[in-house]
Formats: sequence, structure tokens, C-alpha cells
Amino acid sequence: MPINPQENVLPIEASGRVLARDDRRIGSILAEEGKLGVEDIERIMELQQVKGFRFGEAAQRLGLITEDDLRCAVARQYDLPHLLPGNESISSELVVAYEPFHPRAEELRALRTQLLMRWSKAGVRQRMLVIASPGAREGRSYVAANLAVVFSQLGERTLLIDADLRAPRQHRIFNIPDRIGLTAVLSGRADRGAVAPVREFGRLSLLPAGAPPPNPQELLSRPALGVFLQEMWSEFDVILFDTPAAKLYADAQNVAFRAGSAMMLARKNHTRLADATSVIRELSDTGVRVVGTVFNAF
Ligand SMILES: Nc1ncnc2c1ncn2[C@@H]1O[C@H](COP(=O)(O)OP(=O)(O)OP(=O)(O)O)[C@@H](O)[C@H]1O
Ligand SMILES: [Mg+2]
Repeated sequence: MPINPQENVLPIEASGRVLARDDRRIGSILAEEGKLGVEDIERIMELQQVKGFRFGEAAQRLGLITEDDLRCAVARQYDLPHLLPGNESISSELVVAYEPFHPRAEELRALRTQLLMRWSKAGVRQRMLVIASPGAREGRSYVAANLAVVFSQLGERTLLIDADLRAPRQHRIFNIPDRIGLTAVLSGRADRGAVAPVREFGRLSLLPAGAPPPNPQELLSRPALGVFLQEMWSEFDVILFDTPAAKLYADAQNVAFRAGSAMMLARKNHTRLADATSVIRELSDTGVRVVGTVFNAF
């Protein structure tokens, strides 16, 4: 949460000096976290004045905070809750959580903005989106996971559903048990209790794939999926789906049919244009809205 400047816990003017607005917020966050006291702030301001350093840099040079402290405070300032490197439970693939200022994280947030604008322009109320791509290892799981985190960072109640019942891995990315998941929901053995909140990201929940079924495609084409999504829609603002390769299996097609819209992912120098076009055509033919194609370069 950003700190309201009016509730500043810092001496805004100490020793006759005034902290710049950004420095004041960073200072407030660090003070609130118990990392800096009033005397520390005085020392930082003195060094700032002598050397012209920014607040965070001065605090670091004085050995009062670490680089991680500063990164966390900056992330909080911009309302980007993030994780520290070395967190063992959550995968380092979540670039938006570990490195919120990495260019890739910026790209994912830009993608979030575009999606929100398109949904808003089209008057879409059920914001459900299937992440699809024609072939294997094109980055569907990576993009779905990171996108889910950036939506949750914006305060959207976000549900990520791992509808890749063939080679699921969202449960590993988020370190959530996958004993009960979508397969159990679709076969009537579980209800919404299978949806697991992801503790590290307050507004994010994951429905893992669950036990691998012998008949993924048949399960995903059951009306049970539509019924479940109806129920989930009232609880979540955004629902995203990870899926298997659309050129190899009809699973993504079935899920997109229930969700209503899909985003096509194409991996640079990997996905064939003809394959992407044919998947888009197949999706559109069944009434699925393809919101756009995203190029994943890695
Ligand atoms: N934009 C990216 N930047 C860096 N690494 C990426 C990016 N996209 C994907 N990757 C990495 O590439 C690998 C394959 O990505 P991912 O598992 O998301 O692909 P997939 O399409 O879901 O594959 P599968 O067919 O196995 O389901 C992973 O190790 C992932 O971390
Ligand atoms: Mg995948």
C-alpha cells in the first residue's frame, strides 16, 4: 500500500532541511518498517546535503539499510508487492514479483494495461482469458503465471486456473499442493474448496490441475466447466487459464469455448505463423474472441 503523505511518520523538516517528496515516501516506508529511526534520517539528510545523494543511496552508504531493503521500499512505493531473491517457495520465473523493474516485468504490466483497456472498451464484464499457443514450450505457463500476479498486484481478485491437465506446472511455480484441482472439480469430486489462495500475493488464487486424468479433453468439454466458471465469476475480477499446446490437443479450444476469450501467444523464431493463424481461425470459428497476439521473445 502506498503511504499517504499526510500520514507521514517522518520529520519532514529536520534540521531545517526538507526532504523531496519521493524521498519522504521512501523514508516513511522504511521508518514504518522499523528500518530507520529519526536519528538515522537526520544522518541520511546530512549526507544527502553534502554529497547530493538520493535518500536511498545515502541510507545504503551509511550502512543503515541493505539493497534489498531499498528495493522492497521502492516496490512498495509503487504498490508492487514483491518477493526477495532466495525465497524458496515461489519460483524465480515470477519476474514480476522478484524483479518488478525488469524490462520483462514492465512488458507484462503493459500487457495488463492493454487487456484492461480492451475489456473496458468492449464492455466485457466476465474478464476471463485463455492463454493459448500452438506448440510446446512457447511460454504459456510463464506468461499466465506472471500475468496473474500483475493483475493481483493491481488489486484485482485474480484466479489462475491450470487447465493444462497434461503437463501442469502452475502448482510448482506457486508451490501449492496439486492433489485436488480442476480434474476433481470437473468430475464432481470437489467444489470451490479446491481453489487455493496464494499466500504471498493477497489477491491471487490458484486452481491447480489436480491428479492427471486419462481423458483430459473429454473432461474439459463437460458442461461442469461452464457451471464452475459461472460460480467463480462472482468471486473474481479476472480469471486466467493456462492450457496445453493448441495445435496438439483440442483442450485449449474447449476451455476457450467456455471462457469466451483467448490471447494467442507466439514465441519469436519458434512459433510458425501458419500454426498461429490456424489456431486463431479455429478459435474464432467457435465464437471465441481472440483479443490479440502477443510475441514472447526469449
Ligand atoms: N518471456 C520469457 N522470458 C524468460 N523465460 C521465459 C519466457 N517465457 C517462457 N520462458 C521460459 O521458457 C520455458 C518454457 O516456458 P513455459 O513452460 O511457460 O512454456 P509452455 O508453453 O507453458 O510449455 P509447455 O508446452 O511445456 O506447457 C520455461 O522455463 C520458462 O521459464
Ligand atoms: Mg505450460
